[in-house]
Amino acid sequence: MIAAHKKLNALWAQGRTFLGTEYALLGGAMTWVSERNLVSALSNAGGFGVIACGAMTPDLLDIEIAETAALTNKPFGVNLITMHPQLDDLIDVCLRHAVGHIILAGGLPGQPSIKRIRDGGAKVICFAPTLALAKRIVRQGADALVIEGAEAGGHIGPVSTSILAQEILPFIKEIPIFIAGGIGRGDTVLAYLELGAAGCQLGTLFACANESIAHDKFKKAFIRASARDAVPSAPA
Ligand SMILES: Cc1cc2nc3c(=O)[nH]c(=O)nc-3n(C[C@H](O)[C@H](O)[C@H](O)COP(=O)(O)O)c2cc1C
Repeated sequence: MIAAHKKLNALWAQGRTFLGTEYALLGGAMTWVSERNLVSALSNAGGFGVIACGAMTPDLLDIEIAETAALTNKPFGVNLITMHPQLDDLIDVCLRHAVGHIILAGGLPGQPSIKRIRDGGAKVICFAPTLALAKRIVRQGADALVIEGAEAGGHIGPVSTSILAQEILPFIKEIPIFIAGGIGRGDTVLAYLELGAAGCQLGTLFACANESIAHDKFKKAFIRASARDAVPSAPA
């Protein structure tokens, strides 16, 4: 048992150090679900909660970060959608609150956004949909990547998590990489760590947590569902 713990600690040491957490597990941002209650619960439990900004205005994000910080003294991040018309203002709100990690989602991040975040003292995490783009994002200065496969909840790309992981993980060693999409068990997390991931990001599972504000009927439908009940909400 002790040997297994030692092995696990070695496998996700880079991810834990990068996030500043006990577990190298991010609670993937879910628009309208990843708010103060779920985010602080995840961080308090040793994971890394992430606020989903979605379409929030800078004023709303300002309140959400402050309310989350009131519920946890552990690290948490903020996920911003790159096509938000007030992206720069949202970044500045995060920096004012000294949010340590900003995740840029929903399209390729521009170099100016990455620079703005890093100049402000925060780490920037980006999504990499292909190996070529992963290399470009590393060159642009991202501090970590998330590889999110088509098994994920939310807006998805066309390639499965396991294929993307094998395409990208062996070839990017400069920065930590977190894997997302269809992960629901500890042994699956372990498999990705053994492939070279720094940690994993889970979404859907946490939408069903007691601390999630999702409606009880929504949670029950998720818990009762089997794999074939999952339907993409938009074509990949
Ligand atoms: C309801 C829902 C909303 C989501 N909203 C976002 C979002 O706003 N930004 C984002 O980067 N990812 C979003 N995601 C993706 C999650 O952050 C996470 O990467 C994904 O859920 C991981 O796959 P899993 O659901 O199979 O665990 C969303 C996922 C769900 C289920």
